[in-house]
Amino acid sequence: MSGQTTLRLGDTAPDFTQESTEGSINFHQWIGDNWCVLFSHPKDFTPVCTTELGEVARLKPEFEKRHCKVIGLSVDPLEDHLSWLGDIEATQGQRLNFPLLADRDRKVSDLYGMIHPNASDTLTVRTVFVIDPDKKIRLMITYPASTGRNFEEILRAIDSLQLTDKHKVATPVNWKAGDKCIIVPSLSNEEAAKLFPDGWDEQRPYLRVVEQPEKT
Ligand code: BEZ
Repeated sequence: MSGQTTLRLGDTAPDFTQESTEGSINFHQWIGDNWCVLFSHPKDFTPVCTTELGEVARLKPEFEKRHCKVIGLSVDPLEDHLSWLGDIEATQGQRLNFPLLADRDRKVSDLYGMIHPNASDTLTVRTVFVIDPDKKIRLMITYPASTGRNFEEILRAIDSLQLTDKHKVATPVNWKAGDKCIIVPSLSNEEAAKLFPDGWDEQRPYLRVVEQPEKT
């Protein structure tokens, strides 16, 4: 048995202090009033990880638009992280612009259950945690080492989380910002009429399709 915790949606994201490419980071303090994406990758100087980190650096302005900070992690030492940065920049055309945690003692990996022993005893799998400004875990995804993630999908999911926190809607399959939404089933038609005065398309009593609120 490992000493790893099982985290669930709605749990408080465990706090920690760990070294990173941008110095020592106290996680909750570093998040501040922002959203956060914490993601692990298996190993430095590996091809898929190199492409992922370049892509997250490229997308950083998109995360910032959503008031979301990004932070990566692997169990490799800080010296390796630092000497890998040049390769990421040279091959991906992107300089790393967010911190990478050097979790050599596996403090954070264990807290977040990022090592899946039946996949690998020693390396972290590709986890993603989306954490809100109250430090609650709002989304978790896990990919194997061989499959690079789609970080546009993480942005899409953050858009959905932020919209549905604010309005009484849910987002349907393949939704993206600006698309039609679903009125939450817990809302009666009388209540819905006040919130959505322009009306909705009632395909079933439980399937009420409405324009996205606050569409820009
Ligand atoms: C990669 O990032 O390319 C990778 C890392 C660990 C195992 C397999 C692939």
